[in-house]
Amino acid sequence: MDLSKYIASVPDYPEKGITFRDISPLMADGDAYRYATEQIANYAKDKNVDVIIGPEARGFIVGCPVAYALGVGFAPARKKGKLPRETVEVTYGLEYGEDTLQLHKDAIQPGQRVLVVDDLLATGGTLAATIELIEKLGGEVVGTAFLIELLELKGREKIKGYYIYSLLKY
Ligand code: PRP
Ligand code: ADE
Repeated sequence: MDLSKYIASVPDYPEKGITFRDISPLMADGDAYRYATEQIANYAKDKNVDVIIGPEARGFIVGCPVAYALGVGFAPARKKGKLPRETVEVTYGLEYGEDTLQLHKDAIQPGQRVLVVDDLLATGGTLAATIELIEKLGGEVVGTAFLIELLELKGREKIKGYYIYSLLKY
């Protein structure tokens, strides 16, 4: 299936010069959403994944159905101030701005095998922060998966030494 038909490209959003890749049409189509979920689940199926971590907010949309498909748990990496119990946190730069991500301290047990899932890899800032959070808790990042990779921003080069899987490249 050609998933590129289900990505809306929006020029100059949220700032001039940024082309926003909107996954809403993909999510709105049951076949495309299921196909994308299955592709990522297939990539991960031999990795003995214990838990999936998805960064807020679009990482939830992509990561939760993959967790369901694999029959493993999911834990959210959330923007600062959203998680009610004890957390670890990391501040990171974005293609547009800066943010802080947190994970509950009990989201991952030491030694657990973790898959990171998000909608899009841009500069890699979010992924680097998410990996740092997981490793602070003693988790092992056994793979990372995205619907979209923005090649120009070279996120992959920032994340040396980890498997990165993406369905669509721009
Ligand atoms: C977007 C996207 C990724 C991240 C990619 O999330 O969903 O998580 O940016 O960019 P990077 O590789 O440069 O870090 P955003 O922080 O905009 O949050 P949202 O999902 O809540 O819209
Ligand atoms: N997150 C970071 N950069 C993005 C882009 N260009 N489109 C959609 N989400 C993004």
